[in-house]
Amino acid sequence: MSDCSISPPGVVTAPVLEVRGLNVRAGAKPLLRDVSFAVRAGQVFGLIGPSGAGKSTLLRCLNRLSDLIPGLHVSGDVALHGTSIYAAGADVNALRAKVGMLFQQPVVFPASVEDNVLFGAQRLRPLSRSDRAALVESALREAALWDEMKDRLRTAATLLSVGQQQRLCLARTLAVQPQVILMDEPTSALDPKSTQAIEDLIVRLKARHTIVLVTHNVAQARRVTDWLACVCVRNGAGEIVESACCDAVLGNPQCREVIEYLSA
Ligand SMILES: Nc1ncnc2c1ncn2[C@@H]1O[C@H](COP(=O)(O)OP(=O)(O)O)[C@@H](O)[C@H]1O
Ligand SMILES: [Mg+2]
Repeated sequence: MSDCSISPPGVVTAPVLEVRGLNVRAGAKPLLRDVSFAVRAGQVFGLIGPSGAGKSTLLRCLNRLSDLIPGLHVSGDVALHGTSIYAAGADVNALRAKVGMLFQQPVVFPASVEDNVLFGAQRLRPLSRSDRAALVESALREAALWDEMKDRLRTAATLLSVGQQQRLCLARTLAVQPQVILMDEPTSALDPKSTQAIEDLIVRLKARHTIVLVTHNVAQARRVTDWLACVCVRNGAGEIVESACCDAVLGNPQCREVIEYLSA
């Protein structure tokens, strides 16, 4: 594996998220085999690979959404700032606040824009009226949605365009001040303009949040990721077959599967 780093020479930062020997199976069927990687602060860590390789399954193991899938067995470990998220007694709700997630299709609740932004945050701590107003504004600003929404805070979120809904989901995630944001093909349902808005946000947000992005779109990976890991099926289960900085993987792929995937 390549060792290019975004840190200055000689500076090795501790990983924010570290996956160690992760294996996932559904009943007896192996889905992911011996997956290990480290995600460092300020990095957009991209996961690419063919459909069905296990990228979404892997992402769901990083905030234990995998717990909610019946029949899924996860072994190995994932550490957030050095602490196992799978340790006995780990607080899964606190974990999901620290490791937020954005899905392929925006999932808005049938409530107002404002209530959507506050949905997770008000479950974590009591919020006064002024706290609520400040948080709604800051989260919508961070998601580049404030100007469009400041006069529509009581509008039903379901009436927004899909692109606006996806930025609203991002605002809801940002309102709980996550350390890591997982994104599973967040622009695949969006038009080019909304895709551009999300890509601009990813680049801006990485200064304060660590991002793991699953993308099907190689041009998008080139535009926004710093590091790329390729998940491909080998011997019936997804494995990371190549992992290096984005330019190295896209410019000079080493594995046959990655070369085939990139040229498809
Ligand atoms: N709960 C499950 N039970 C059985 N098989 C599953 C389950 N979830 C995913 N799979 C299978 O695991 C493989 C990886 O799926 P997924 O993680 O969605 O891939 P990707 O996101 O790379 O397209 C696929 O073959 C899928 O059918
Ligand atoms: Mg997927």
